[in-house]
Amino acid sequence: MTKAIQIDKNADGKVEANLIDITVADLPEGDVTVAVEYSTLNYKDGLVLNGLGGLVRNYPHVPGIDFSGKVSASDNPNFKEGDEVVLTGWRVGEVHWGGYSEIARVKGEWLVPLPAGISTRQAMAVGTAGMAAMLGIMALEDQGMHKDDGPVLVTGAAGGVGSVACAILAANGYEVDAVTGRAASADYLHSMGVKTIIAREDISTPNGKPMNKERWAGCVDSVGGSMLANILTQMKYGKSVAAIGLAGGAGLETTVIPFLLRGVSLLGIDSVMCPTSRRQLAWQRLANELPMAKLEEMVNEVALSEVPALAKPIINGEVQGRTVVKVS
Ligand SMILES: NC(=O)c1ccc[n+]([C@@H]2O[C@H](COP(=O)([O-])OP(=O)(O)OC[C@H]3O[C@@H](n4cnc5c(N)ncnc54)[C@H](OP(=O)(O)O)[C@@H]3O)[C@@H](O)[C@H]2O)c1
Repeated sequence: MTKAIQIDKNADGKVEANLIDITVADLPEGDVTVAVEYSTLNYKDGLVLNGLGGLVRNYPHVPGIDFSGKVSASDNPNFKEGDEVVLTGWRVGEVHWGGYSEIARVKGEWLVPLPAGISTRQAMAVGTAGMAAMLGIMALEDQGMHKDDGPVLVTGAAGGVGSVACAILAANGYEVDAVTGRAASADYLHSMGVKTIIAREDISTPNGKPMNKERWAGCVDSVGGSMLANILTQMKYGKSVAAIGLAGGAGLETTVIPFLLRGVSLLGIDSVMCPTSRRQLAWQRLANELPMAKLEEMVNEVALSEVPALAKPIINGEVQGRTVVKVS
């Protein structure tokens, strides 16, 4: 018997999470079984744990959209017992059972071998949020973002995506401006390498003008909504925004003027179905470029049994940095 968090609908149709015992026989189909060491708490896990967003179709379900650990059994030629692996995306934890479980069985093609220089715990300190941040920075670089062109803005900066984005950008010599709704996070953000902090209320409402003074040479955005609409009017000529999240809203009311008159680009970032070669590159870069001491500063480690109590705080934007779940 091993432990797992399972969610199910109660008699009132409400989703409840409980720590239960499961066996290998309970697991869904897959060609690789992993002894899970760590998982994390992401915004999307909060949605799943609260039964929001229509992400889970079948109950009972084991959440956890990412995990790291060691292969314990494999019918896949690319993996053998003892290999250290990381999994993010592929709708694991949504339509397939996820990482809040001491054992997980998945398709080998969803796994990435852990590169040298990063432990299973550090991999989950990065997690889906940090991987998405790296993909966003890679997309901005592909569009020509350069540290000599001016400050780069990070929104939702004290959250998971935002914290990792700030740390990588600062480590690579960028001047980082950060938007936060939590004044108390200022010291934390400065320690991540942020130079200038912008209060959420100062940037979340567009002033109605299709273009404003040019300010940023790039933007990693995990907020969306009216803040993103406003930021688009303030991007420097030819520069890009990587749209990663919707913590502030899924809507986007804007004009095409910044695209047409300033050559601004809005780049969509998807970490869930991202091709394996791109994931491998992202993990390699994270292992090489993310200062591990800074990563450790972001981490709050919790036990598997503590996950249900964190479901509401992550949705309410009350969780700072990255929450690592020690699974086994
Ligand atoms: N595209 C992808 O593949 C991908 C991958 C991972 C995550 N995501 C998305 O990225 C977003 C962030 O994920 P996360 O794991 O970093 O979540 P998180 O840790 O909860 O961080 C989100 C941050 O956004 C800010 N925020 C929250 N509510 C807000 C509001 N109403 N208005 C403005 N800002 C608000 C808060 O930062 P401050 O306190 O600093 O303001 C919060 O810490 C989510 O929407 C998630 O679904 C997408």
